[in-house]
Amino acid sequence: MFSGSSNQPLAAAVAEKLGIQLGKVDLTRFADGELRPWIQEDVRDKTVVVLNSLSNPIDHNVMEMVLLGDAIRRSAPKTMIAVVPYMGYSRQDKQHRVGEPVSARVIAKMLEISKYREVMSVDLHNDAIVGFFQVPVTHLAALTILADEVKKLKLVNPVVISPDVGGVKRARNFAYALDVPMVVMEKKRYLDRYDQSETFQIIGDVSGKTAIIVDDIISTGGTIVNSAKSLIAAGVKSVVVCATHAVMTGEAAKNLEAAPLETVILTDSILIPPEKRFSKLKVASLAPVIAQALSGVVG
Ligand code: R5P
Repeated sequence: MFSGSSNQPLAAAVAEKLGIQLGKVDLTRFADGELRPWIQEDVRDKTVVVLNSLSNPIDHNVMEMVLLGDAIRRSAPKTMIAVVPYMGYSRQDKQHRVGEPVSARVIAKMLEISKYREVMSVDLHNDAIVGFFQVPVTHLAALTILADEVKKLKLVNPVVISPDVGGVKRARNFAYALDVPMVVMEKKRYLDRYDQSETFQIIGDVSGKTAIIVDDIISTGGTIVNSAKSLIAAGVKSVVVCATHAVMTGEAAKNLEAAPLETVILTDSILIPPEKRFSKLKVASLAPVIAQALSGVVG
């Protein structure tokens, strides 16, 4: 198993759970930024796993996956599995307007031409992305580890909130796991105002309840902050947040800390550096989920 540079602690935690060592790989870059990875293990006839999140810097990490794949396949492995805990570009899963790419499909094709024979990822923005791959995809969920963290909070009168219509299925599964009701919010995103959204209405009863907002990604934090404010205005007593991917751009950490939120539970699908950590943050590790999924194919 090799790690790219984006999330070495998660790769190390998965390797430890599997009882294997991470393979040695040199990820040297030339002065102009060109990557020249060098695999320093004998991978012939082996099942090789490469773990790397396609997080910021996304294009840099995509090229790591592509060139690591090419380096490994030239040494005749038995098979190669790409573990991509966070798949960057997954929000561009359709042409939102004419003239745009379907970026998630392009990423799928890039992994395939790099000769990965299987792909594992966690909470893809849209289930349909699985269909962009011709190779088998194991689509893992952070639901269990996030729900376990929520259960520890022993919340009074909880309700699960989907902050937008696109997240209803995710929230419904979460509500089902916790055996609590679900409410949907309506969010509007303007195509010409990147990274900005507005919350319009709450469809369901939230007054006097503890809201658990469930989302796949926190990027600017705008969705969560706007949703929390609307929920509090509608009579919610307190707000807890669960999300899988800590994209956490710009002032997200500061804004989440200042927002009316009790706890924000995220996973380590993306490495959260010290400067993006804040007092309300709890991080649940995906290592057991990924190791469990890999245990059938390695060792
Ligand atoms: C969008 O549909 C996603 O599910 C998230 O709600 C979104 O990416 C969050 O972005 P931000 O934190 O910038 O509001």
